[in-house]
Amino acid sequence: MRIRKAVIPAAGLGTRFLPVTKAVPKELLPIVDVPTIQLVIEEAVAAGIEEIVLVTGRGKGAIEDHFDHAFELERTLADRGKTEMVEELRRLARLVRLVSVRQKEPLGLGHAVLCARAAIGNEPFAVLLGDDLYDAVRPAIGQLADVTRETGLGAIAVIEVAPGQEHRYGVIAGESLPGGRVRVRQMVEKPAPGTAPSRLAVVGRYVLPPEIWPILAATRPGKGGEIQLTDALAELARTHGLIATTIDGERHDAGDQLGWLRANLAWALKRPELRDGVRALCDEMSARAGSSD
Ligand code: G1P
Repeated sequence: MRIRKAVIPAAGLGTRFLPVTKAVPKELLPIVDVPTIQLVIEEAVAAGIEEIVLVTGRGKGAIEDHFDHAFELERTLADRGKTEMVEELRRLARLVRLVSVRQKEPLGLGHAVLCARAAIGNEPFAVLLGDDLYDAVRPAIGQLADVTRETGLGAIAVIEVAPGQEHRYGVIAGESLPGGRVRVRQMVEKPAPGTAPSRLAVVGRYVLPPEIWPILAATRPGKGGEIQLTDALAELARTHGLIATTIDGERHDAGDQLGWLRANLAWALKRPELRDGVRALCDEMSARAGSSD
């Protein structure tokens, strides 16, 4: 079955990026000149997703504006002969069908996904978290959809993190299958240091069957007093089965300052008009860091 719809939780306060996120949704922080959420939505669209359910909160209206027509701006740019940019803005407004639902209380990621239940309905769907960016030939979420098509089970993306980093993630353990896949038997949200069942961390991409809905609705607050998607997935793994897989491609953690800077450099290096300038800048900066050591 085709995956047609995706949930993108975007209600978070973005406290890690204050003060910029006081008035600007963190989803609009740019990677060079493209908002992070645009990269995530383009990944979904490239994998065949037709409708995005955005779970938003207070102060997030600018995200919807970004994917809407901007007639005055388009007219002004057209009058100035900037036809390429006009075309790009129109492409953005036509990119995907966007529906937004509101998460009225910050009750956790599991609760945010549950807010999309009526908009998604009774079909398998994708979840993409905006802090995790993928640079991949076959879109990361499409790679998970392939696993679901092959196995009939939900699929989640994992990476092997460096020792000592497990406490920042949901961590899984289970039986290894061919092709870097794991049949999930255990899942823990942000395990205390030294207690993680493996180094395989969940990284922001999920394809889930509709059977997750009643499980999510019954999930009680867990880590941090929040309703955790990880806890619902642990139950889904037990009752229906769940596959974790590594993704072919590079993952960027745009959810912290260094990861966000790294993503900016990586995407800038992909742009022919910026590549040489960025390389020169990196050389200049590392020479400067070297001389101040
Ligand atoms: C969320 C999930 C966690 C996952 C992480 C991936 O945590 O709860 O299981 O590993 O995203 O980036 P957050 O980073 O939102 O605290």
